[in-house]
Amino acid sequence: MPPYDIVLHGATGFTGRLTASYLAQHPEGQRFTWAIAGRNADKLAQVRDAVAATGSEPGVIVAQAADEAEVDALVSDARVILNTAGPFSECYAEHIVSACARSGTHYADLSGEYWYQRRMVDQFHGEAERTGAKIVLAAGVDSIPSDLGAQFAIERLSERGGRAAHVKALFTSYAGSLSGGTSKAMKARKNVLESSEYEAEFHSDPYVLAPGVENRSSDETVRGWDSYRFDRDLRRFGGPFFMAPINARIVRRSLALDGQLPCSYQEGIAISAWLKAGWLFLSRGFGYFVGAPVPLRPKSGEGPPPWLQRAGSFRVLVHAKTDDGRQSAVVAVQGKGDPGYLATSKMLSETGLVLLFEQDAVPRAGVLTPATALGPVLRQRLAAAEDGRFMQFRVIREKGTASSRTP
Ligand SMILES: NC(=O)c1ccc[n+]([C@@H]2O[C@H](COP(=O)([O-])OP(=O)(O)OC[C@H]3O[C@@H](n4cnc5c(N)ncnc54)[C@H](OP(=O)(O)O)[C@@H]3O)[C@@H](O)[C@H]2O)c1
Repeated sequence: MPPYDIVLHGATGFTGRLTASYLAQHPEGQRFTWAIAGRNADKLAQVRDAVAATGSEPGVIVAQAADEAEVDALVSDARVILNTAGPFSECYAEHIVSACARSGTHYADLSGEYWYQRRMVDQFHGEAERTGAKIVLAAGVDSIPSDLGAQFAIERLSERGGRAAHVKALFTSYAGSLSGGTSKAMKARKNVLESSEYEAEFHSDPYVLAPGVENRSSDETVRGWDSYRFDRDLRRFGGPFFMAPINARIVRRSLALDGQLPCSYQEGIAISAWLKAGWLFLSRGFGYFVGAPVPLRPKSGEGPPPWLQRAGSFRVLVHAKTDDGRQSAVVAVQGKGDPGYLATSKMLSETGLVLLFEQDAVPRAGVLTPATALGPVLRQRLAAAEDGRFMQFRVIREKGTASSRTP
């Protein structure tokens, strides 16, 4: 048996430290053993001491992700690996995914880099299916709310005999800021777009994470929501969302794996979300009024200050309808905390705990998305986290039925 239930790799980074802190204080801490891992022993010791002061003390594993033998040893020490060392396309995540796929070890990361994700699908999906490993990509705010929200809305339709043909998601709240690691991931994307590594069609393919699938919707773009308009179904003005290129590709992989295609997906953000976020920043003077300014050009290890981590929030409305438009469902997924970091660290941790405690609830392995790997079980766990105060999944409207609250 591996010595640890969960190993958190990349624990010395901004998101890694938040994840370590959440795991250390988790109310189910008695039920699992865990360790933090990374490349720098001194930094890891600092993280261990900091989190042990508030909760359970993790073990420490020093491993160079660049060294495949060290990664094999790291993975053999764990039942579940959580990876926050990114940009994933540059931090040897491939070595970790490879070792997990070979050994049947479950894995989740925070990747949003579609070219890295596609490589993982191409190289390791088949092997992970054979060994039983669940490799969960994008297990943070990118792309859990969109992915679980789409699955939830589709499920509500199908419970009444309807098959979803069109799904759209609109963020009505998204208040937070960026970390150094996210800035690096954006730079990695710019570099790959400017390189000749992939053809232009690869970058503009809405189904880049669903290779070889048939029944694609025609005329779809990567985001699906490319202009400013009033949406009658969602009753909001919405426009293009900068996170949609990450989320929409993941949702389409879920639709493909779940046999839901053809079904179009669009994702945007409501104008009101920008106004809310703007007000949050202005009312605190961008953090100057509270003595903790938001770093505008964060370095690695830096991110939103604690006041913003607490005051941040997210909410996405997801609408699914049948081809004839006669049946539809609108659900909301919402949560507290800066979406990209505090909320993400909780989503990743809870994903790890589902992989540990309830991995058989969804009998599927491979290189997967949050919805296809863990779907309803993850939804229930997130809805229960912090006694229901962290995230909620609600049915807002269904054609012809009253609204209700469901995890
Ligand atoms: N999907 C989402 O919702 C979501 C949300 C938040 C963040 N993210 C992504 O998560 C990643 C991390 O963000 P962050 O702000 O936490 O970054 P960060 O503060 O820069 O931390 C990066 C981590 O990666 C490690 N690392 C860097 N280069 C490495 C290498 N060559 N080999 C092994 N480890 C290496 C660092 O170790 P050292 O401390 O030793 O340098 C550190 O632990 C980014 O890619 C970001 O885009 C995604």
